[in-house]
Amino acid sequence: MKIGAPKEIFDGENRVAMTPESALQLIKLGHTCVIQAGAGAKAGFSDATYATAGVEVVPTAQALYDAADVVVKVRGPEAEEARLLKSGQTLISFFWPAQNPDLLAQIAGQGATAIAMDMVPRISRAQKMDALSSMANIAGYRAVIEAGNNFGRFFTGQVTAAGKVPPAKVLIVGAGVAGLAAIGTATSLGAIVLAFDVRPEVAEQIESMGANFVFLEFDASELPDGAATGGYAAPSSPAFAAKQLAKFRELAPEMDIVITTALIPGRPAPKLWTADMVAMMKPGSVVIDLAAERGGNCDLTVPDQKIVSDNGVTIVGYTDFPSRMAAQSSTLYSNNIRHMLADLTPKKDGVIAHNMDDDVIRGATVTHQGAVTYPPPPPKIAAIAAAKPKPKAVELTPVEKRAQEVAAFKTQTRNQVGLLAIGAILLLALGLVAPASFMQHFIVFVLAVFVGFQVIWNVSHSLHTPLMAITNAISSIIILGALMQIGSGSWLVMLLAALSIFMAGINIFGGFLVTRRMLAMFQKS
Ligand code: NAI
Repeated sequence: MKIGAPKEIFDGENRVAMTPESALQLIKLGHTCVIQAGAGAKAGFSDATYATAGVEVVPTAQALYDAADVVVKVRGPEAEEARLLKSGQTLISFFWPAQNPDLLAQIAGQGATAIAMDMVPRISRAQKMDALSSMANIAGYRAVIEAGNNFGRFFTGQVTAAGKVPPAKVLIVGAGVAGLAAIGTATSLGAIVLAFDVRPEVAEQIESMGANFVFLEFDASELPDGAATGGYAAPSSPAFAAKQLAKFRELAPEMDIVITTALIPGRPAPKLWTADMVAMMKPGSVVIDLAAERGGNCDLTVPDQKIVSDNGVTIVGYTDFPSRMAAQSSTLYSNNIRHMLADLTPKKDGVIAHNMDDDVIRGATVTHQGAVTYPPPPPKIAAIAAAKPKPKAVELTPVEKRAQEVAAFKTQTRNQVGLLAIGAILLLALGLVAPASFMQHFIVFVLAVFVGFQVIWNVSHSLHTPLMAITNAISSIIILGALMQIGSGSWLVMLLAALSIFMAGINIFGGFLVTRRMLAMFQKS
């Protein structure tokens, strides 16, 4: 199939959906590529680099839509672009189908298939195609850089001959993809970073990135249920929201930079940084509102603009942060598109197989074969999870817990004593018939197995690697013993010795291979 990327016509859009590098990967899938002249120019990719990568360059959008079987874009199509789509053609781009029902109907009517990159389900298998996350990651990074650009001081604290500089204090509200990227960037620049999210499970992630989680005191009933919404947050209860705002009011006078990223899917952005909080901030402070496109988390945000409040706080409401880093975002976005096309080309033969039974492809397809296929049914993974609810763990008091542990220990001991008794009887029975020399070796063998089992069984998984090193040492002892025995005259001894050398060899060389792979994980390519 021919994959084509037109020039983005949205004002100020610098990204492109195909880079020379992604084109090379698409060609490996058996496709051919075509691009509109100048499409990559604003992201730093010249027509010449595309041509070198084997991409055909065509002069106009019309020529591109005529030539391509699959059109890949960044922004959802404008009406004039949608008109160019033909029956049987596929469009892959951001789409926001809930907000664009007319466009959906138009494209379905024309018989074209539309795949919305913003509808890719947030499941592990689809992470490589999750364009929302790759763009949010860039937005989070860029938000910190933008804040630094508008903030008159260092991020990191310094003690210089000219005086002491305190570190900047940064508050990140919402620790989703963008929030975590902002935390990573701000901490690496040396700022003191505080972060808050309604999902308590992200506290660990926040702390592991070097930021401090802002804790709230609340009852379990006030906690929003984030788990039910596929990794996204659910709306907070009024009591929780009030406590959150009270905490932010307490923090506002201290904060130099506030980056808000809070969002609940399908809703306007919650107002979390109110006008009175801005009024409490020091002059020169900066608020970056990433949720500006959905109305903003800050009362004073003006989408797409940078304003300065009466008390000298800069509030940035740009909605095009990824486009401001077009080379990086085009690279990541085109990779997301390339992975989507790889899933659509399972045989790598350049033939698109649009498998509507695949959760990810079904989820993202919004029009197909002349019909609007949005909204998709819930992913099967969620359906399986819903069908088999896990039994809820019963909360035990410490006394009950202890009693349970003692009971489990008693059962375990009883079982072990029983097994030992059976083993001893069997050993005695064998001793009645077997020769003494055999029994001597056999008892040593049985004891070795027993002790080895007891030692290894309870070792935690994290210690399996050092344990493997020890088993390698044991293997070398086995090999030595086997080498000494292999010259024996008895064919049985020779066979057993050869088998021992073979199996211990697997263990030793396997150990080396695994260790090599583990070391490679820590090496920079
Ligand atoms: P996400 O859904 O991964 O994260 C949003 C986070 O906000 C979640 O962790 C959620 O728990 C949290 N949240 C929701 N309500 C909250 C509340 N009341 N208080 C505190 N936290 C709350 O979203 P993602 O992908 O990180 O995007 C974040 C924002 O950035 C979105 O508004 C998105 O539209 C925007 N964005 C903006 C761009 C720009 O150029 N301005 C570019 C890309 C994304």
